[in-house]
Amino acid sequence: MVDLAALEAEARESLAEAGDEAGLESWRIDWLGRRGRLTSVLRGVRDLPADERPAVGAGANRLKSVLEEAVTARQLELLAAVSDGPALDVSLPGRRPPLGSLHPITLTRRMMERTFRDMGFDVVEGPDVELEEYNFDRLRIPAGHPARDMWDTIWVADDGSGGPRQLLRTHTSPMQIRYLERRQPPIRVIVPGTCYRYEATDATHEWMLTQIEGLVIDEDLSFAHLKGTLEAFVRRVFGPDIETRFRCDYFPFVEPGAELGVRWQGDWLEVLGCGMVHPEIIADAGLDPDRFTGFAFGMGVERVAMLRYGVRDIRHFYRNDVRFLREFDQFRGTA
Ligand code: PHE
Repeated sequence: MVDLAALEAEARESLAEAGDEAGLESWRIDWLGRRGRLTSVLRGVRDLPADERPAVGAGANRLKSVLEEAVTARQLELLAAVSDGPALDVSLPGRRPPLGSLHPITLTRRMMERTFRDMGFDVVEGPDVELEEYNFDRLRIPAGHPARDMWDTIWVADDGSGGPRQLLRTHTSPMQIRYLERRQPPIRVIVPGTCYRYEATDATHEWMLTQIEGLVIDEDLSFAHLKGTLEAFVRRVFGPDIETRFRCDYFPFVEPGAELGVRWQGDWLEVLGCGMVHPEIIADAGLDPDRFTGFAFGMGVERVAMLRYGVRDIRHFYRNDVRFLREFDQFRGTA
C-alpha cells in the first residue's frame, strides 16, 4: 500500500526548499509532471488489487489538488518576500513622472478661441492640404495674378494623374469658401489652423504659422462692425491700454482691405489682415450681395503669443528647445 501521508510530507518539505521561480518549476516537474512522483502513483492505481484501488485513487487525487494549491501558495509567498524585502522601500517618496505642459501656441490659440466663442462665434477646422482652387482661384486670385506672390507657396508634388493641383494652404481663407458652400447667413465663424509659407525666416516670420480666420456674414454689416469686433477682441486679449492702428491693405478677396497693427516694443506689429468680404465672393456663394455683407479677418497666433508672453523671436516656438518650452509650465491650466 502506498503511504500517501509520507509522500505528502516529502513533497511539502522539498517545496519549502524551492526558493525561486526556477526551483518551483523543477519541483512541479518532479511531483506533478508527466513522469512526476505523484503522477506515477496515480498511474499505478490500476495495477493495485481491486479492494485497494478506490481508497488509494481517491487519496492520490486529493493529494494532487492539495499539492497544486501548495505550489501556488508558495509562489505567492515568494513574490511577497520579494516585494517586502529591502529592494523596495515603500516608505521612500515616489519619483514624480515629468509632467509636460501645453505648447505656448496651443495655449494662445485656445485663449483666442475662447474669446471668440464668448463673442458668439462657432469654431470649425479645415484641411491643411488644400486645392489650388480654394486657396487661390475662388478667392479671386487666378493663376498668373500678381497677388499669388504674396504667398510663397509649398506645392504638393504632382502625381501625374492630371488631377487638380494641391498645396499646403498658405492661409486659412479657403475655409471662407468651403464654409459658404455649406452654411447660410447669419454666419459667425472662426477657423483656427496651421498654414505654410515657403519664406525666409526672421524674428517675426516662420515657414509655418497658425492662423485664425474669421468670417461674419449677415444683413447690413459695415466696416464699423469689423472694427468694433476686432478692437473688442484685441482689448480682451491684451488689456484696455493696447494701442492699435488700422491701415489700408490689399487682399483680392476683400474690399476694402486693411491690416491691424498693435504697438509692440515701440514698433507696430501686424497681427492680422481683414476687410469687407468681396461682393463677388458673396454672389459666388449664391447670396444676394445687395442684401448680405460681411467681413473677414486672418490673424497670426504666433504674433499674438509673442506679444502675450514677450517672446522676441518667433523661431523659438518651433525649435523644440525644452528650456524655452519649460518657461510655459507656469501657464499650465490657463488654457
Ligand atoms: N488670408 C490673409 C493672409 O493670410 C489674411 C486675410 C484674411 C485678409 C481675411 C483679409 C481677410 O494674409
